[in-house]
Amino acid sequence: MISLESLRVMPCQVSDVDRIFDLEQRATSYGWSRSDLASSVASDHHCYKLARKGQILGHCVVQLIGAEMEILNIVIDRDLQGMGYGTFLIDSVLRLGRYRLVTEVWLEVRESNLGARKLYGQLGFIQSGIRKNYYRHAKGRENAVMICRSSDLS
Ligand SMILES: CC(C)(COP(=O)(O)OP(=O)(O)OC[C@H]1O[C@@H](n2cnc3c(N)ncnc32)[C@H](O)[C@@H]1OP(=O)(O)O)[C@@H](O)C(=O)NCCC(=O)NCCS
Repeated sequence: MISLESLRVMPCQVSDVDRIFDLEQRATSYGWSRSDLASSVASDHHCYKLARKGQILGHCVVQLIGAEMEILNIVIDRDLQGMGYGTFLIDSVLRLGRYRLVTEVWLEVRESNLGARKLYGQLGFIQSGIRKNYYRHAKGRENAVMICRSSDLS
């Protein structure tokens, strides 16, 4: 169980892009490019960082469209995974969504990403569909699993 002391979720700044790009590269082989992250920080995609005492532990990019939120990306530092930080970050982002009157939260996850799918299942997300061959994969293409939940389900 992680200590929640001093953990903060805040909007990313342009000066954070190098660090969050580093997190992407270390955490996943399918991470966002530096320029994708930089445009998210600068655009209407809301990019949040999970930080403790100035150190960035992870980040999450969301898009708000009316009463819907889409989680476009979430990454926790490779060395800190499996300790509850991802759960904390998603919970915090859902709370921010509720302030903005979001009622539904969506995301797409690689079918092979069983760890992330397990996490979303534990958080009350349910599968709503499949996009066939949506993602590029080292050996070709793979499906995206579309999942959603209400923002106020506790
Ligand atoms: C997915 C990710 C954000 C989860 O963050 P995290 O801090 O590791 O997640 P938590 O510690 O809060 O894990 C909560 C639950 O998720 C599941 N989980 C997370 N990572 C897992 C893994 N690698 N294998 C199996 N289960 C995993 C477990 O069910 C875990 O609960 P448990 O500890 O009670 O078993 C993180 O692993 C990550 O950055 N992965 C690489 C990038 C990625 O895949 N992003 C998601 C794209 S949709």
